[in-house]
Amino acid sequence: MKSLNTQTSRLVFIGAGNMASSIVGGLVSHGYPANLITATDLNAELLTKLAETTGINTTSDNELAAAQADAIILAVKPQVMEAVTRPLKGTISNNKPLIISIAAGITVDNLLDWMGEDLPVIRTMPNTPALVQTGATGLFANPAVSAEQKAIADTIFAAIGLASWFDKESDLDAVVAISGSGPAYFFMLMEAMEEAGVKLGLSAESARELTLQTALGAAKLAQASDVPPAELRRRVTSPGGTTEQAIKCFEDGGLRELVDTALQAASQRSKELAG
Ligand SMILES: NC(=O)c1ccc[n+]([C@@H]2O[C@H](COP(=O)([O-])OP(=O)(O)OC[C@H]3O[C@@H](n4cnc5c(N)ncnc54)[C@H](OP(=O)(O)O)[C@@H]3O)[C@@H](O)[C@H]2O)c1
Repeated sequence: MKSLNTQTSRLVFIGAGNMASSIVGGLVSHGYPANLITATDLNAELLTKLAETTGINTTSDNELAAAQADAIILAVKPQVMEAVTRPLKGTISNNKPLIISIAAGITVDNLLDWMGEDLPVIRTMPNTPALVQTGATGLFANPAVSAEQKAIADTIFAAIGLASWFDKESDLDAVVAISGSGPAYFFMLMEAMEEAGVKLGLSAESARELTLQTALGAAKLAQASDVPPAELRRRVTSPGGTTEQAIKCFEDGGLRELVDTALQAASQRSKELAG
C-alpha cells in the first residue's frame, strides 16, 4: 500500500459540487498544495470555475483521476454512488487508495462491495456549515485504515471545521441526528424568533439581524466558555426577570422532550436509509 502523508498525498475528489468545492477551498486556503488535488465532475463549467479559483487539476475522467490517487473523496449524491464507484474497482485494485465517502446513508460495506473487499474506507458525515468552513464532521474508519490515512482525513475535514472520530459506524446515526441535521433545527428556531420579533413590532430586517447575531454570539460564547451551556443559561436567567419568563414557557411546553423525540426520529431515519 502507498504511504500517505499529510500535505504530500494526491487527493482526488469525485464530484465537484457544493461540498467538494468547500473542502477543496478550505484545503487550499490552509496551504494544501493545489497541484496535489484533482477534482472530477460531469459539469465542465463547475470544473473550470473550481480550477480558476483554487488552482487545482480537473478532469471529467473518473478512472484516470482515480488511478493517480492516494486518497479518493467520494462527493457525489448517494443515489449515484454505486454507478460512480463500481467502474473504479479495477483501476484501484493494485494501489488500494484510501476511500473517503461524505455521502449520507452509504455504508462502509456498500463501498467495499462496490469497490473491493480489502480497501481502507472512511465514512464521514459532514454538515452544511462546511460551506462557510465552520462544519462539524463525524468520521468512522474501517480496520484497514492506517494511522497515516486517518491523519490525512483529519487534515481534509479540519480544513472545513471540526473533525470528530467515532469507534462504531452506528454512532454516525447519532452524528446525523445532532450535527448532520442540526443546522436545520437552529434555522427553525431562528425563523420562529424572527416571526415573534415581527409580532412584537420590530421590522423584519431588525428581527432577523438581531436573531442571527444572537445565535452567532451564543455559539461563540458557549465555545469560548469553560462552563456548560446550562450554566451560561442560568447566568442570563435572573430570578423574576424576562429570560426566566421565556425559559419557563419553553420548559412548560416540553421543549426538552420534543428535542429528544426529534433527534430519536432523525437517528432512526438514518438507520433506515443505511438499510
Ligand atoms: N451539502 C451538504 O451539506 C452535505 C452534508 C452532508 C453530506 N453531504 C453529502 O455530500 C455529497 C455531495 O453533496 P453536494 O451537496 O456537494 O452535492 P452536489 O452539489 O450535487 O455535488 C455532486 C456533484 O457530483 C457530480 N456528479 C454526478 N455524477 C458524477 C459522476 N459520474 N462523476 C463525477 N461527478 C459526478 C454532480 O454533477 P451533476 O449535478 O451534473 O449531476 C454534482 O456536481 C452527497 O452525497 C451528500 O449526501 C452533503
